[in-house]
Amino acid sequence: MDIVSKMLMKLVRRLDPEDAHRLALNALMLGLGSGAGQDDPALSVRTMGLRFPNPIGIAAGFDKNAQVIRPLARIGFGFVEAGTVTPLAQEGNPRPRLFRLTEDRAIINRMGFNNQGIDRFTVRMARLHRLPAKGNGTGARVPVGANLGINKNGADPERDYPRLVGRVKHYVDYIVLNLSSPNTPGLRDLQQADRLKAILEAIGEAHPDRPPLLVKLAPDLARDDLEPVIEAVIAGGAQGVTVTNTTISRPDGLRSPHAAEAGGLSGRPLRPLATAVLRDVAQIAAGRLTLVACGGIETGADIVDRVRAGADLVQIYSAFAYEGPGIVRRLKRETVRALNAEGFETLADAKGSA
Ligand SMILES: Cc1cc2nc3c(=O)[nH]c(=O)nc-3n(C[C@H](O)[C@H](O)[C@H](O)COP(=O)(O)O)c2cc1C
Repeated sequence: MDIVSKMLMKLVRRLDPEDAHRLALNALMLGLGSGAGQDDPALSVRTMGLRFPNPIGIAAGFDKNAQVIRPLARIGFGFVEAGTVTPLAQEGNPRPRLFRLTEDRAIINRMGFNNQGIDRFTVRMARLHRLPAKGNGTGARVPVGANLGINKNGADPERDYPRLVGRVKHYVDYIVLNLSSPNTPGLRDLQQADRLKAILEAIGEAHPDRPPLLVKLAPDLARDDLEPVIEAVIAGGAQGVTVTNTTISRPDGLRSPHAAEAGGLSGRPLRPLATAVLRDVAQIAAGRLTLVACGGIETGADIVDRVRAGADLVQIYSAFAYEGPGIVRRLKRETVRALNAEGFETLADAKGSA
């Protein structure tokens, strides 16, 4: 990591977490963070008809308004997911709503989908779509996803999700339906199989020309509920799932004074739960879906573990918030080493081998 980024991360850790997030976005917009260089071909992934230079994506919620997609690609992410975006702009919950659980290397958030709404999101996506990837200093082109959600008030999911898909479908490489944020009342009920299938079918009817579609799931679904959900995802015509969002559970052993704050927990304590749910999902899906693993990933060994458990791609948020842009390069280096140590030449060789 360059010296400016190192100093910035020191400052970021001292600020209120939400102010720190805003500073990080501004720094990225200004072009801070060193360039990534070429990725090792052993890390490249092909799935959903797309090519990813490496399997590490930035998870939804970091770039809610699609403001720093190219800068995130420039620091080395293999794909970027913007959002969650809702039909109308909304403020989200009152502050404080974001807490660092430093002792636990974790975060609790109850942001509540604060975002500028689909109109501004789409303007940025359209502009990005037209810009050449290289030659203007904005960095590499990698697959870009839009993560979609619904407003807290006045939502009609069967109407809103198809409309949102229609707004972004020409500009993005894939789309994620977020049905798993714990901070929008009623949202997680949409994971119920019948409801989910109805929403997916409404999207399929209105937009047969849509890009690949994924559903982001909560880690708090019971094992018995997972099977109907995964079958509904497949029957509804979606291509994949992201496992997982934040958890409303509070694993034993949390030490931070913020551990009892309401909201979704992410970071290191989420790792065992997110990994267990991934294993279950991989078993149920049996190769029929693309799996994006998320939750508590912070080392190359974590990445190889998830790939061995069946993941095609991975995403990070909390570890990036703690460590800053240098983590992307570290994770890629460690992943190549972990692959070699386990006797694999490429990520593709490791997939599903656990
Ligand atoms: C501050 C914050 C905001 C988030 N906002 C969103 C969001 O808008 N949409 C979403 O799908 N997930 C959101 N997430 C969840 C992350 O995308 C990710 O699923 C979760 O944090 C687990 O990954 P991690 O342990 O690497 O952080 C958010 C997470 C955090 C910490």
